[in-house]
Amino acid sequence: MVKTLTIAGKEIKNRYIQAPLAGYSSRAMREMGRRYGAGLVYTEMTSATALVYHNEKTFAMLPRHEEKNVALQIFGGDIPTILKCIPVIEAESEYDFLDFNCGCPVKKVIKQKAGSSWLLRPDELYNLARSMVKISAKPVLFKIRLGFDNEHRNYLSIAKLLEDAGVKAIAVHGRTRAEGFGGEVDYQAIAEIKKELSIPVIANGNISLANIDQVMNITQADGYMIGRQSIGNPKIFEDLIYHEEGKQIARASIDKLIDDVLIHLDLLIDEFGETVACRMMRSFVSLYLKGVYNIKPYKIKLVRANTKKEYVDILRELKASQII
Ligand SMILES: Cc1cc2nc3c(=O)[nH]c(=O)nc-3n(C[C@H](O)[C@H](O)[C@H](O)COP(=O)(O)O)c2cc1C
Repeated sequence: MVKTLTIAGKEIKNRYIQAPLAGYSSRAMREMGRRYGAGLVYTEMTSATALVYHNEKTFAMLPRHEEKNVALQIFGGDIPTILKCIPVIEAESEYDFLDFNCGCPVKKVIKQKAGSSWLLRPDELYNLARSMVKISAKPVLFKIRLGFDNEHRNYLSIAKLLEDAGVKAIAVHGRTRAEGFGGEVDYQAIAEIKKELSIPVIANGNISLANIDQVMNITQADGYMIGRQSIGNPKIFEDLIYHEEGKQIARASIDKLIDDVLIHLDLLIDEFGETVACRMMRSFVSLYLKGVYNIKPYKIKLVRANTKKEYVDILRELKASQII
């Protein structure tokens, strides 16, 4: 039996969570993660401003009723707009948790006083979190970093103020904004947060099958959020579950990998139409096929495919090439 995670009374069937990934974690990637057992999946960051202005493209990104175990993540820089968007998403979308982004390091987002810039405004952040908790019909979660930069590693006080405001769980990417997405992750800092809080703490940053035991030992976190390692590799969730259960983990066969590429592509086509889907699939396909024997010439063709038929034909050729 794998351990579960309970957030605001809702039991999540395991502790493995798919991270929000802008440009990737649309409905298709979330569905792939769920099929391979992810306990909870996140939408990518969704602009509160765009939602308030009923931007159609943004509306199309919202989870619908058929989606299970999903956290909708929003971002924004000013409290009135963020609060205004909550009734809008409650009318337009169905989701289990509302998550707020306090981690995005991108300049354009920081300029709007959004993302990780909130970590520099703890008083305002407390007011935001309290108001969101009051207004939202769904439990509110926050995703944070360890601070803005090395001079502002205020993660403990930020985590505590979020708990005091009534936030039901926090995910912590164990780096500061200044550290971006590279270098070491400070799992010890996540452990400090875990020790201080009563609400669930979700560890994040560079987590993989190779280091999961170590991350669990250090952080003692309640959940484990996987981002980049899950792009084109939804099987990581099954692998993590099997690892916890002590089951043997097998490499996926070429047939299975090809099936997954085509399932993911079909889901993207459902969501975005064939042209956009084929383009989006380019960011996934090489990762799905990583490690396949003599893959290079096929990868070169696949990342230029413009139609589903092209994908199918190239993948058929690839499969034939594997039969020795
Ligand atoms: C391409 C990309 C897009 C991301 N988009 C988001 C996002 O929309 N919201 C968010 O909170 N974090 C976002 N992140 C951060 C990830 O959720 C995660 O915190 C980070 O990548 C560290 O985890 P990992 O090492 O498992 O990828 C993004 C990261 C990447 C690389």
